[in-house]
Parts: sequence; C-alpha cells; structure tokens
Amino acid sequence: MGDSESPEDVQLEARLEEQEAFEPPESFVEQANVSDEAIYDEFAENWPDCWERAADLLDWEEEYDAVLDDSNEPFYEWFTDGKLNASANCLDRHVADGRGDEAAIEWVGELGETRTYTYAELLDEVEEFAAALRDLGVEEDDVVTMYMPMIPELPVAMLACARIGAPHSVVFAGFSADALATRMNSADSEYLVTCDGYYRRGDALDHKDKADEGLSGVDHGVDTVVVDRLGDDLDHDLGDGQHDYDDLVAEHEGASVDPVTRDAEDMLFLMYTSGTTGEPKGVKHTTGGYLSYVSWTSQAVLDIEADDTYWCSADIGWITGHSYIVYGPLALGTTSVMYEGTPDYPEKDRLWEIIEEYGVDIFYTAPTAIRAFMKWGKEYPAEHDLSSLRLLGTVGEPINPRAWKWYYKHIGNEECPIVDTWWQTETGGMMVTTLPGVNTMKPGSAGPPLPGVDAKVIHPNKAEVDPGQAGHLTVQKPWPGMLRTLYKNDERFVSEYWAEYSDADEDEWIYFPEDGAKIDDDGYITVLGRVDDVLNVSGHRLGTMEIESAIVGVEGVAEAAVVGGDHEMKGEAVYAYVITEDGYEEGDDLRDRIVEGVEDAIGPIARPEQVVFTPELPKTRSGKIMRRLLEDIANDDDLGDTSTLRNPDVVDDIQAKVGDD
Ligand code: PRX
Repeated sequence: MGDSESPEDVQLEARLEEQEAFEPPESFVEQANVSDEAIYDEFAENWPDCWERAADLLDWEEEYDAVLDDSNEPFYEWFTDGKLNASANCLDRHVADGRGDEAAIEWVGELGETRTYTYAELLDEVEEFAAALRDLGVEEDDVVTMYMPMIPELPVAMLACARIGAPHSVVFAGFSADALATRMNSADSEYLVTCDGYYRRGDALDHKDKADEGLSGVDHGVDTVVVDRLGDDLDHDLGDGQHDYDDLVAEHEGASVDPVTRDAEDMLFLMYTSGTTGEPKGVKHTTGGYLSYVSWTSQAVLDIEADDTYWCSADIGWITGHSYIVYGPLALGTTSVMYEGTPDYPEKDRLWEIIEEYGVDIFYTAPTAIRAFMKWGKEYPAEHDLSSLRLLGTVGEPINPRAWKWYYKHIGNEECPIVDTWWQTETGGMMVTTLPGVNTMKPGSAGPPLPGVDAKVIHPNKAEVDPGQAGHLTVQKPWPGMLRTLYKNDERFVSEYWAEYSDADEDEWIYFPEDGAKIDDDGYITVLGRVDDVLNVSGHRLGTMEIESAIVGVEGVAEAAVVGGDHEMKGEAVYAYVITEDGYEEGDDLRDRIVEGVEDAIGPIARPEQVVFTPELPKTRSGKIMRRLLEDIANDDDLGDTSTLRNPDVVDDIQAKVGDD
C-alpha cells in the first residue's frame, strides 16, 4: 500500500482489519436481481425443477421434456430434447427485441484504440463469418480451434461456430505452438482461426509464426483463417489453406445464416484444461445446460441486467472468459467490456481509467490481479471516479482477507458487495459464492453453495466435516452447467471426477473437484486449494506432470519433479527439482534450456521460478517421489519426520540449494 497514510486512513485500515463480516449495502439489496434468502429453500424443495428458472432465461425453439435425465449416471443430461441455438440466444433475440443499437461488446485495444459492436453489428459479422466458415467446409459438429488473443474477432468466431453448430475449442494465446498442436490433434480439429499478432506494452508481438509452428505439428490438414490485427506493423504471407479474415467476411457481406437448431445436449464447445497426467483434458460443455447455467449465475451472482456495462478482465482463452465475458453476459443482453492489454500499460491506472470512461457497473477479476493492484498502490484507483461500480467479483484462486479488504475499500469504496466465486472449467459456471443481495460477506471465505448446488466438505469416509475442520470439497447432486464428459474419453471422465467417492452399487454419485476446503458454523466454505498435482499460478491452471514431461524432454535432464511453492504475487510458483544426466553439467546453460523447454511445450505462464539441481529426489521406500516434502522445502516450512525416506540425506542438500538461490 502507498506510504502516505493519513491518520484517518490508518484508523480505517485498523477497523477494516478487524472486521470479519460485511453486510451488503441496502442500496445494492434494493435493486438486486436476487434479494430474498427464501431462494435457497425454494431450490432445495423443488429440486431439480428449480433449474427451470435458469432455462427460462433462454429462448427455446422446442421445449425440453425433462429437466434432468439421470438414467445413465454420471452421464447426466439436462433439459432433454429441448432445442435452441446459443448464438440466437446471445444475439438475434436482443435485436428482435429492438435492442440492436445497444452495445454488446466495448473493445479497448492496448494502443488505446476502441471499437464498439452493437448487437446488430455483432450479429451481422457473426452471420458473415458463419457463412465463410461454411464455405470453407465447416459442418455441424466439426471442431473449430481458435488461437487468438483478446480481439473482438474471437467472440465473433465463437458465436459464428455456435450459430452453425460447430463446437469451438479456444486455446489460450499464451500457450505454445506445441500446446496448440496437442489440442488440435486431440480434437481432430481441421479448422483454425488465429491472427497475425497482437500488442503487449506497445510492442507488436508475432502470433502467426507460433500458429504456423503449431500447425506443423498437426497430423491432418487444416484450413486456417488469419485475422489481421497488426496492419502494417507486421507483414505476413498466407500459405496454402490460409485465408484472410477480412477478405472472407467481405466476400460474405450481408450474408444471412439461420441459426442451426441444436439439441440441448449437443456440444457447444470444448475447453482443454490441465489434470494430473501430462495429457490435457478436453472438457465438453453442452448448449442447453451450460447456457442456462451461465445466464442464471450471471443474473443471480453478478447481478447483470441488460442495461449494465459489465467488465470481466479475464482472458477468453480460459473458462472465465467463455462463461462471463461471452456467453452469460451476452445471453442477458448486457454490454460486455473486452480489454486487449495488460493492466499496467501505459500506466498502472489503466483499468481504473477504463472503468471511469465506460461507467462500468460490475467488475470481475482475479486475486492475483488484486495483489498486483495493492502492490502498485491505492493512489492509482484514487485518481479515477469509480462511483459507477455497484458490484465486484473475484475468481480463480483463494483470496486472502487483506486483498479482499483492499479491493472492498479502494475499488468498491465500501459500497460494493464482493462475490468470491469458486468454480472450475468443469463446472461451467459458479458453484460456491455469496449471493450479493442476500448474504453477509466474510473475506477469505467464498460463501455458501449456490441455491440448488449440493456442495459438501467431507472426510475420506464421506461424513461431513465439523465446522472448523478441513476436508475434500465435493458436489453431491448434478447441476446444469456441469461438464458432460471428457472429449472422446468417457472412462477418464468417470475416473477423474467420480471414482473417488461414488458408489455405483448404491447409486451414489459424488463429483470430486480435487479441491480441499474448510467449513464454518454457518455453512460457509473456505476453499483451500488443489489437493492433486495441479498448480494455480496467477490463477492459471497448470499440471505438474505437463511441466515435468517438458523438462524431461530437455537434453541433459534425467529426472524432474515439479511442485508449487507459495508466491506473494502469483499465489503459487513453479519449482522444478532436476537431476542431470551423466556427462551434463548443472548450471546456467542447462537452466536456460529447461526454462526454454517449458516455454516451448506449454508457454511462458509455466516458466519455473526456480530450477534446483539435485543428485537425487527424495523418495519413499516404495520409490515414489515425496512431493509434499519438495513443496515444504520450496516454502521453507518445517519438514517433520524424514526418516522414512529411502534417501533422507538428500533433504539437507536440496534445502541448502533452494536457500542459496
Ligand atoms: O482450485 C480451484 C481454483 O481454481 C481451480 C479451477 O481452475 P480452472 O478450471 O482454471 O478455473 C478457474 C476459473 C473458474 C479450482 O479447482 N479456484 C477457482 N475459483 C476459486 C478457486 N479457489 C479458491 N477460491 C475461488 N474463488
């Protein structure tokens, strides 16, 4: 925090520091979309039909027969036999309602340029691009991959796919060429939409070379569409099978493409995410359940209304951007702000400037960003009028009470409720959070499960933990936004999420998200973090095995173990413990090649914070690497008893090396 604290500030900080519970302001409650706590009972008493309330937010071409079909657990189906189209729900119906001239997307580029897409304009371009995709040969159910930064053509392409019933698979632009190839191969995706480059801190970054390199690793033919983001700043040649986005859209100017009728259970998109093995998981989301769920949670939790200006600062390359920049907000007909760049360019007040300029009502970001804002200082938000804000949200990792209170005071001016929303790529939308117009907020604790969501914290024997105790977070009833399976891998879907706690003989199906949590007296859930080998680095989900296999692929590396160490800004940071091959020297050269290897295989987000060379890794007598111990070493924590190790002597060596660095 800044260092020029006035006595009033100090007093206020002291008061805030002690305060453990915060009530939503009356002014917020009065206008909230949901303000009656009876909603919890209503959902509980009327489950699963309570979810009709979510489905009612959409336009259906044909009504569904059943809210839930659980005849083939855990392959649940929602709103069965209902028919709808996601792009028609996000666009056409708003235009038909006479709201075509209202802004759907307010895009802000990093160089300061802006573009507004009204609903009518967005619909036009979506239809034109949908027609172009069809011309390229895209048919219903073909997976179209997108490898794009935060430019408006990304949501256009997603909605164009949704319009013609082609599932999209968006690969985060910060992922490497290899990561793109792996995902395209896994999805058998024969179409790619990408761009020439984008801007970061004012510099033009090449993206097309990375996309081309990725394509060289794809084992089948691909048609590629390239958006020209950089104009004359970076020239590119289009190769065989590569098409210019602007040309395609121009060729189809004025095209009209009817939205394809999709079954509720038809796939809307695939999103690859990290798991415990090296192979990313293709999470499958469907049209009816997912769209209902993100619309409902956008309305109930983010309190979005059509005439709001709403801003989620996530990247569309992750699930948060899918659910809460594109699908939820647009289904509700609001204005969604989209920002291309970094929060501290050209100055550290960039986000606050945008909030002031657009009169943003609702702002949703990640704790890692809030920690950065805190470090930069309260003077940056103080320079701007943020009084348009009505609600704040966070997602992606636990938020510590200090960061929560800073956000509450310096961004929300103690007038905006904060929703700390726990959910995952797999859950499609929010699961555990306060309802901002209903519940007391407790900094650091996400809150109760949402109405209709049966989240429980349990012991290994499945008994619920007592208040104050920690256990595993589980979800014991299905919900409409849930993933339906892992793409072409039903077996892994069952083993990853259901095997731990379900009992098929008893017809008991329990979803295990691989998070640990604590429960309070009042039923509030404090999420503690992953209990599997998945790291959360700056809110980005990374598998330790993916990073390990990248490191082992580097010449000179014999064995590697990757763990997460605590990090003040990133939450967690990557620690790599590496054994060299005989004949190779430990040192900066190998360290650089390891970092490069990780960046090539995954991307800069997975870059190790520390590479620690060690002659051995601590192993149990049965030969398993003791990751917990490596984590404790990274965090300089007490190591406890290490005598059961096969090689206890190695511990001191490693500790000394970590300390040295
Ligand atoms: O560990 C939890 C953490 O992020 C994981 C899910 O990551 P991903 O699928 O990439 O989705 C992130 C955005 C929804 C979870 O298993 N996580 C997410 N939100 C929170 C959280 N941890 C604590 N509090 C949260 N609010």
